[in-house]
Amino acid sequence: MTVQIFMGDSDTFEQQQQSIRRSTTDCLDIKAQKTMQAERWLIVGAGGFGREVYSWTLGHLHSTAADFPVQFLDDNPECLDRFPELRSMWLERISTYSPRPGDRLLMAIADPGAKLTAGATLISRGATFASYIHPTAVLAHDFKIGIGCIICPLSVICCNVRIGDFVSMNVGALAGHDSVVHDGCTLSPHSNVAGQVDLERGVFLGCQTVILPKIRIGEFARIGAGSTVISHVRPHTTMMGVPAKRVSWSKNQDAADHKAA
Ligand SMILES: CC(C)(COP(=O)(O)OP(=O)(O)OC[C@H]1O[C@@H](n2cnc3c(N)ncnc32)[C@H](O)[C@@H]1OP(=O)(O)O)[C@@H](O)C(=O)NCCC(=O)NCCS
Repeated sequence: MTVQIFMGDSDTFEQQQQSIRRSTTDCLDIKAQKTMQAERWLIVGAGGFGREVYSWTLGHLHSTAADFPVQFLDDNPECLDRFPELRSMWLERISTYSPRPGDRLLMAIADPGAKLTAGATLISRGATFASYIHPTAVLAHDFKIGIGCIICPLSVICCNVRIGDFVSMNVGALAGHDSVVHDGCTLSPHSNVAGQVDLERGVFLGCQTVILPKIRIGEFARIGAGSTVISHVRPHTTMMGVPAKRVSWSKNQDAADHKAA
């Protein structure tokens, strides 16, 4: 599998490129480059996060064959109506899109469940996702990252962090040393994940959350903005506050617990 990763045009580009290659040879063949080339670049999702991804990648995505350097896929064509300068960039619905060989996709849906579903559907149709790392992100020498990830400006990825597929780290988010961020997780702006944390598949962290060291957050759990999590979190729960308390628990989890009892 080849992943295109944009690493920026900084002084340390060559260094970063070497690090990425060395750290990922056992799972991915990564081709890091200063600009990313494709026949068409398509941003999946044209909501708030999609428009942010468009902004962060401006000047970094180069299209060889399309009239537009970048276009959006979104099931809601009206989502860009309030932004006349972007309206013409809507290409088509995710549900009807058929990948062309030269297409490269960036995943820009923030909701973990929706992005995992869209990612799986598009890959099953043959789509190819790239991962994007903004040049101002601070990167340790030995992290790993999958496909379809967006690492926004000023994010920090510390030593020995493992990041799965379709993970987004918004502006200023931090993944602490030895942490694992599984597929589909969304880290909102300035969320702060301490060392040795395990974020299971599909976890959503609101803005400015803090997760203390060695905590495990169960799959598809949601942590409210500004919360501080000090103990393990069960799957499919919503936690809020300082320290975070459980405020809701999905019916699925009730059913699973009932069965286990
Ligand atoms: C955790 C979250 C996803 C839950 O959303 P939800 O299930 O729709 O919950 P609601 O917004 O209906 O709020 C439910 C209750 O919790 C309260 N609440 C919501 N978010 C809260 C928070 N972060 N901390 C404390 N209380 C909160 C609400 O006031 C409401 O209280 P009430 O029942 O007394 O009226 C959402 O509250 C949240 O924090 N989202 C993060 C947003 C964010 O950071 N986005 C990133 C954008 S880049």
